[in-house]
Parts: sequence; structure tokens; C-alpha cells
Amino acid sequence: MENTNVYIETYGCQMNFSDTEIVSSVLVNNGYSMIDNPENADVIFLNTCSIRDNAEKKIYERLMHLKQYKKKNKKLVVGVLGCMAERLRGRLLDEREIVGIVAGPDEYRKVPDLIETALHGTRGIAVQLSRVETYDDIPPLRTEGIAAWVSIMRGCDNFCTYCVVPYTRGRERSRPAKSIVKEAIGLAEHGFKEITLLGQNVNSFYDEETKENFSALLKSVAEAVPEMRIRFMTSHPKDISDELIETIASHKNICNFVHLPVQSGSNRVLDKMSRSYTVEHYLERIAKIKEIIPGVSLSTDIIAGFPSETLEEHQMTMELMAKVQYDGAFMFKYSPRENTKAFKMEDDVPEDEKLRRLNEIIQQQLNISKELNIKEIGNIHEVLVEGESKKKKEEWQGRSDSNKVVVFPKADTTKIGDLVKVRITKSTSGTLYGELI
Ligand code: SAH
Ligand code: SF4
Ligand code: F3S
Repeated sequence: MENTNVYIETYGCQMNFSDTEIVSSVLVNNGYSMIDNPENADVIFLNTCSIRDNAEKKIYERLMHLKQYKKKNKKLVVGVLGCMAERLRGRLLDEREIVGIVAGPDEYRKVPDLIETALHGTRGIAVQLSRVETYDDIPPLRTEGIAAWVSIMRGCDNFCTYCVVPYTRGRERSRPAKSIVKEAIGLAEHGFKEITLLGQNVNSFYDEETKENFSALLKSVAEAVPEMRIRFMTSHPKDISDELIETIASHKNICNFVHLPVQSGSNRVLDKMSRSYTVEHYLERIAKIKEIIPGVSLSTDIIAGFPSETLEEHQMTMELMAKVQYDGAFMFKYSPRENTKAFKMEDDVPEDEKLRRLNEIIQQQLNISKELNIKEIGNIHEVLVEGESKKKKEEWQGRSDSNKVVVFPKADTTKIGDLVKVRITKSTSGTLYGELI
């Protein structure tokens, strides 16, 4: 067989980045070569995201742009993977002439066949969602590095009213705990220093066979690879248990960092979002986390301008943020998604008002982060060195246990992957600066 070069470009959340490693593994096992730029590719895939309208717009622009490669190489196959493939299905083939393959998140085993057919001129589509597919038997093709993503579950059953994920990724299902632990051990043996356990809602991880819940899994992983750092994403506030909080606190190698998306500070809006918790419950969980995990760092997701959100309710979100004092936040303007429940609600917060609320939220978060980081001055952090600082070659960049970016001058002996102690001397809202001790 002639050598076929495949290039994959990944968009969206870490689940997609993790899936790209799975697709790559499937392809390499079938004799394809993965390359890391589109220039000499025979096949170009975009692994796509549908979460907000602008995520999809970006893909359409990229597809337009890819026409130049198609002009140079008439045989080039362009494919769409991921959430947009699942959401738009045949529409992508009908509306975009350049697209030759459409494959949804549960159909990656079929990608080699789809390529073969497409290389012979027939466009193909596979978008069936599965109740069982976890790709558990496929070892992800990882590039060398120190941090690895390990997907522990797929899909989501929560159906928050604004969200496309349950439609693009299907029902929730967990991988067997045993094979996750085995993968972690393998990663440690290959020199990885950090693992992030991934799922849309890791708290509902459940191994049917061994009856292990997420706390039990986290404990097993942390104890199997005691020299590695363990992180996890994302937790849902409705089921972050005491047991989980205590597991984080009692294991030194589980990072003191919890990402707990709140979305809104108003109970009425949370109810309309079907988030199934109240502000009171959320704040009680945050208090518990702060009490049990010393030095914990917190982050969240917030949506500005959900349908019918009043100015007062927006203010309640601002107040909640001030109360919790998040170290960081991902903040978004509500974007109506076809077929979701919220799509049928009137999108009645005017665009400029949504933007104004979003900017207010972003500005407040910047101030909070800045204040919290000023308090870090003088503190000593254990930092995992990830690479050269983006701004200066003479500096290293890494992250603290609490997930903060830490930059410090290089020293002769330190190398990527080392755990070093750094004293913080200076800070901004996004970065801590310090010196090795
Ligand atoms: N599973 C995670 C997050 C999934 S998507 C969770 O439940 O928290 C990441 C974030 O995107 C969400 O937390 C939400 O804040 C945001 N988001 C999802 N759908 C959106 C939409 N239609 N408009 C704006 N933001 C959205
Ligand atoms: Fe979307 Fe809600 Fe599921 Fe998160 S929990 S992926 S926001 S439906
Ligand atoms: Fe986007 Fe799909 Fe992730 S919609 S956020 S890539 S699960």
C-alpha cells in the first residue's frame, strides 16, 4: 500500500484532544502515517466542537481555508470528526462540497474504512452514537510529554437545557476502573509526570463490575502512581461528595484544584438551565471544599445572558463570584443551540447587553484573580516544570499543585518534568513569578 499521510487539527475541549489520540492510534494501526502539518497531507481531519455558535463558525472558516490545499492536491480528502460531525451529520456533506468524510465521536473505529472509500472518490458518513463504546482497548497515540489526558468516561446524561453535549456525545458510560489504573501505571513507566482524568461529569463515573465510584477510582489511581500528579475534569456541583473531597485532601499527589462550573448565581436561572442544584447547595459544597482541602484553588464556568436572565439575576452571579473568590473562570455569552430545550426559550437578552454582562463578569474575575495572586507573594509552591516560558527563553514555566502558572529563571540542573520548589516574588492576574529555592 502506498503511504497515506493524515493530519488532524483539534478544536474544543480536552475530550476532543484525547479523542484525536485515539483516532491517531486507530489510523497508525491500520498503516497510515500521522503528520503534524497540513502541507503534505493526503487526508486532513478537523476534530470539531459545537458548544457555541462561534466554535462552529471557526470550523466553517477553516474549511474555506482548506480549499487552497485541495487546489494543490486534487486527491486530498477533507474530513470532519467530533461534535459538529455528530450534530450536523449529512448536512455537512450537502452544504460543504469540500467535506468527504463525516465521523461522529463514537464511530472512530470506522475512520480507516471511510478514508479508503473517500480516496476512491466516494464520500462517507458514520454518526451512530453508542451506549457502550469507550475505546477502552485502544491505547491513545500520545506525543512525548509530561502531562497525559486519560479519558475515563464518555457522554453526558445531564441535559442542561443550553447544552449540545448530550446530543453530540450521547449517553454516559464509564471505562472499567482496572484498565484506567493500568493505563496510569503505563504512563508513569513512560516518564509522564501528570495525569488528568477526563469526562464531562467525572463525579458520575461508575464501574458496573467492581462498583467503584469516582472517589474510589481517584484513590486507586493516586495510590497506583504515587509519584505522579493527578488532576480531573469536570465535576458537577450536584454530586461532588464529601468522600470525593476527603479523597483529594488525603492524597498528596491529587492536586488541590477543583473546577466546579456554577453557570449562574440565580436559583431561578439555574432551574431554567436544569442544573439541579441551588446556589445554597453550591456554596455549601464550596465551603466544605475550602474547609477540607487547605490551599485549594477553585475555578468555574459562567454563562452570561441566559434566556430571561434579569439584571438583578446577573448581579446575583457577580455576587456569587465575589463570595467564592475563584482563582480562575471560563466565561461565556449564552449561545442558542438548535434542538436543545433552551433553544425554544426566547433568546431575549439583547446581544449588546449579553456582551456588557459578560465583560462585567470578566472584569470582576480579573480583579479577583489579581487580588488572590498578590496574596501568593512570599508563598512557596511545588512546581512541575512544563517547558520554556512563552515570553523568555531564560525562564521556565510550570504549574503549581493548585494549577497556577508559575514562571521562574532557569537554573543549570532543572529540566522539563522536574518538581521544584519556587518562592513567589511577583504576580499578575494570570501568572505567578518566582525564584527557585
Ligand atoms: N461538562 C461540563 C462542561 C461542558 S461545556 C460541565 O457540565 O460543567 C463547557 C462550558 O461551556 C459549560 O460549563 C458552559 O459554561 C459553557 N456552555 C455550554 N453550552 C453553552 C451555550 N449554549 N452557550 C454558552 N455557553 C455554553
Ligand atoms: Fe453539558 Fe450539562 Fe452535560 Fe456539562 S453537565 S456537558 S453543561 S449537559
Ligand atoms: Fe465542544 Fe464537543 Fe467538547 S461540543 S466542548 S468538543 S464535548
